[in-house]
Amino acid sequence: MTIQPSIGTPVSRVDGAMKVTGHALYAGEHQVRGLLYGVVVSAAVARGRIASIDTSRARRTEGVVEVLTHENRPQVPWFDMEEGGSADTTKPPFRVLRDDDILFSGQPIALVVGTSFEAARRGAMLVTASYEETDHNTCLEAALAHRYTPEKKKKSNTIKGDVATASAQAAAKIEQRYRLAMEQHHPLEMHATTVEWHGDGTLTVYDKNQGSQNAQEQLAQAFGYDSDTLKVLNSYVGGAFGSGLRPAYQAYLAMLAAIMLKRSVRVTLTRQQMFTHVHRPACIEDIILACDGESKLTAIALKATTSTSQFETYTENIIGWGPTAYPCANLRLDYGVAAIDTPTPGNMRAPGAATGMNLFEIAMDELAYAKGIDPLALRQANYSDMHGLTGLPYTSKALLDAYREGAERFGWRERKREPRSMRAGTELMGWGMATGIWDALMLKASARATLDERGILTIASAASDIGTGTYTVMAQIAAGALGLPLERIQVSIGDSTLPPAALEGGSSMATSVGAAVDRACGKLAKRLFDTAAQAKDSPLGIVRFDEVEFCEGRMRVIKEPARFIDLRDVVALSGASSMNCEASVDPKKDSTNSKAKNTHAAVFAEVRVDQELGIVRVTRLTLAVAAGRIINPKTARSQILGGAVMGIGMALQEKSLFDHRLGRIMNHSLAEYHIPCNADVYDIDVVFVEEPDSEMSPLGVKGVGEIGIVGTAAAIANAVYHATGKRVRELPITLDMLL
Ligand code: MOS
Repeated sequence: MTIQPSIGTPVSRVDGAMKVTGHALYAGEHQVRGLLYGVVVSAAVARGRIASIDTSRARRTEGVVEVLTHENRPQVPWFDMEEGGSADTTKPPFRVLRDDDILFSGQPIALVVGTSFEAARRGAMLVTASYEETDHNTCLEAALAHRYTPEKKKKSNTIKGDVATASAQAAAKIEQRYRLAMEQHHPLEMHATTVEWHGDGTLTVYDKNQGSQNAQEQLAQAFGYDSDTLKVLNSYVGGAFGSGLRPAYQAYLAMLAAIMLKRSVRVTLTRQQMFTHVHRPACIEDIILACDGESKLTAIALKATTSTSQFETYTENIIGWGPTAYPCANLRLDYGVAAIDTPTPGNMRAPGAATGMNLFEIAMDELAYAKGIDPLALRQANYSDMHGLTGLPYTSKALLDAYREGAERFGWRERKREPRSMRAGTELMGWGMATGIWDALMLKASARATLDERGILTIASAASDIGTGTYTVMAQIAAGALGLPLERIQVSIGDSTLPPAALEGGSSMATSVGAAVDRACGKLAKRLFDTAAQAKDSPLGIVRFDEVEFCEGRMRVIKEPARFIDLRDVVALSGASSMNCEASVDPKKDSTNSKAKNTHAAVFAEVRVDQELGIVRVTRLTLAVAAGRIINPKTARSQILGGAVMGIGMALQEKSLFDHRLGRIMNHSLAEYHIPCNADVYDIDVVFVEEPDSEMSPLGVKGVGEIGIVGTAAAIANAVYHATGKRVRELPITLDMLL
């Protein structure tokens, strides 16, 4: 059978019109009868306990129905559970309104519920609390004395060879401390939950998250429901970046209120409250790199510490990426965490790699200067076909092609080595580069393909589209597999009752659900063929399955295209109103387990720096990406653009600024927590290099959601050094550091 090629075509978003016309409803937008609105009251101190809380004025406010606090909230199983939602949890996690403990500034201490949002907000302003404060610390530097390595991370702390001797004998070496500031996710859509109370013991929960089934499981367990009585929908999600991997606290508050009042309740966080639930941890890392006369790395020593909260231990892989990309005989890798009085950090786009590899790649740039070699040549000299830590070969690794093609498109050859040697008008100009690396990940997934008598093919899976293009990519794969135009494909995702799919995380969705969709459609194609071939007087005649193709809504004989049958007629032949097949993929069977699986990128950056004001503009970025097969070059490019823009933010803007005396983030608005906007983004050139891969996943896909940020921040930081001659070892690089 020939598959009509539609994988690889740059299809525009199938949900684009729905989104721009407002027809795509997000978690906080669903119309529900008799809806109540909950507004969160946040704690004013960073640590201590609530001595008293006064809700009387709020209760007297017109339109306020109830005020939930730790004193009157309903008892639900959650409050007695040993473990919370996080797989990472080693200490009891934070549970909203459990008791009078204050664990971080901005912690929700009450939910005011009203018949209108305005009434609830008015009431929320009138809730007052007094606290017994205890000492707090929100500074990672100050917490380093209490650094520890959690049990599960001890095995990745490695000593191999002899770093001290190797670096003493090195042709060049560097030894420096690097830092990354705490960052916030800030998707466009704020976290929101609408709980629909049906009155018959069942609930429908519209929640912003990255996996309806995971959210369903967490909420059902916490509140004593099951898969028949509670379902979760996340049909449209306005970005998440990892902030929606587990339900955020407003989901628990909305559930508590709905159960207490037996009513439908919606809770939407404010932008300010978005600073109080999850973030990328701050990091401090000491790096030693040494190389020999041929510029081969001879020693790597990394000692990294990331922040976590006082009540959960969140860890990342910070130290593994550099030594994975560049094999080295002498290693000393040491990772630990230190607890501060903040909410628990969590995964944020390329968690661990965005921090670890970007800091590592700044150090690599320093080593290139110490050795007197071109930064690109240093990477090429240390390229390996093998995973540096495990020694395993790769399923595919076209990084050398990415270096070559990226350098060519950027014009790297024209670069002058010396810092401050290039200018554009009155501005200093700098060119920098870095390597990016991320995991290629496949997770279990299933999908159902149903063709009805109208010839409409419906794809169903509990997958999510967090703005990444899942709807589009799945429609495209299905259209290709059954030779149908896109208009005849419906994609049904974002519903916990659909065939199982994992969280949209780790850049795994296209790889995993894509393969399940393709497989379900393949099974359906075979059933359609069997049905048609067995029919009396089949127009296809006597043919084998491999002698037909699916094209233009028909199944036809490849060698005799005049012999065909319309797929609608096949459904009619089956005697039912529709035909369907379900299929699954499992990484244990569908992805090799004896090879290394990663995506790579070569990132080149140009900055221009105003010498008087220190203002840095990223005027050009080139990202050459090796990420296996690209299903949709348009949506994939958008993913890389998004990652690259986030990389600009990481390099130059994003920083949670604490007032450590208050233990509170001062710049808690999008006016003051800076992220790149249109005026900060100039040319971004994205190219996908050919990378055929038959072992990573059935479709040869590796995933592109995260790789775009890894290396980008470092390439920019390195370009800033090249422009100014000033090495800043702290991200973001703000203009005060350059003056
Ligand atoms: Mo992501 S940080 O893979 O949700």
